[in-house]
Amino acid sequence: MNKLSKRLEKVADYVKADSKIIDIGCDHGLLSIFLANKYPKIKIIASDINENALNSAIQNIQNSHLEKRIDTRLGKGLEVVNPEEINTVVIAGMGSNTIVGILKYAKDKLSHVDTIIVQSNTDLYFLRKNITMLGYYIEDETLVEEKDIIYTIIKFVKGRKRYNYKELYFGPVLLASKDSLFKKKMQKEYKTIQMILKNIDKGHYFYRLKLKRNARLLKEVISTN
Ligand SMILES: C[S@@+](CC[C@H](N)C(=O)[O-])C[C@H]1O[C@@H](n2cnc3c(N)ncnc32)[C@H](O)[C@@H]1O
Repeated sequence: MNKLSKRLEKVADYVKADSKIIDIGCDHGLLSIFLANKYPKIKIIASDINENALNSAIQNIQNSHLEKRIDTRLGKGLEVVNPEEINTVVIAGMGSNTIVGILKYAKDKLSHVDTIIVQSNTDLYFLRKNITMLGYYIEDETLVEEKDIIYTIIKFVKGRKRYNYKELYFGPVLLASKDSLFKKKMQKEYKTIQMILKNIDKGHYFYRLKLKRNARLLKEVISTN
């Protein structure tokens, strides 16, 4: 059995021992298997939209003798569950658009969900904004570096908090700590934005404006302690 990545270990750190989770997009099922081994009372549904991926998860689950502990389901997002079956949603390794789509278009499935744990590397402003709009606030977030990529993992819990643009862009918890990994990530992001700004067509007025605003914020954050 493959060892769990540092990224998925951090995701697992946010899962409570007695929760009822759905691991959406479980792929090979490694996270679900890790959680089932770690927590004897946890209830797990491992799902995937891709049949080959789910079959690989089923095989790994059987090899780990966990078929009675992990329920596997083939299908799209939250369509595979009834609301009362879950109190925690985990979605890792997907783009923000897909994650938000899964959550937003199946709001009725979130009625018993008090915790949403996500890991994405695209448009985190969009991700934070949309999940907070669903009535969850950011309880914690963390960065993990693996093979030169810095991943962001966010734990949302039920409740409301107001965030400004800067908090949604950087992450309120990450912004408050500003540790060395955070600065490294922001420096990379600043360089990427500068490169895009150099190459982008002059016509993209609003996009350029947004990038310039982000570059300004990034510069400010990188240069302060
Ligand atoms: C890049 S893999 C990530 C796997 C694992 N969660 C991880 O973080 O390592 C994304 C997985 O999500 C699945 N997926 C994509 N969109 C989905 C959706 N709407 N519903 C369920 N699964 C989805 C894909 O088939 C794929 O197995």
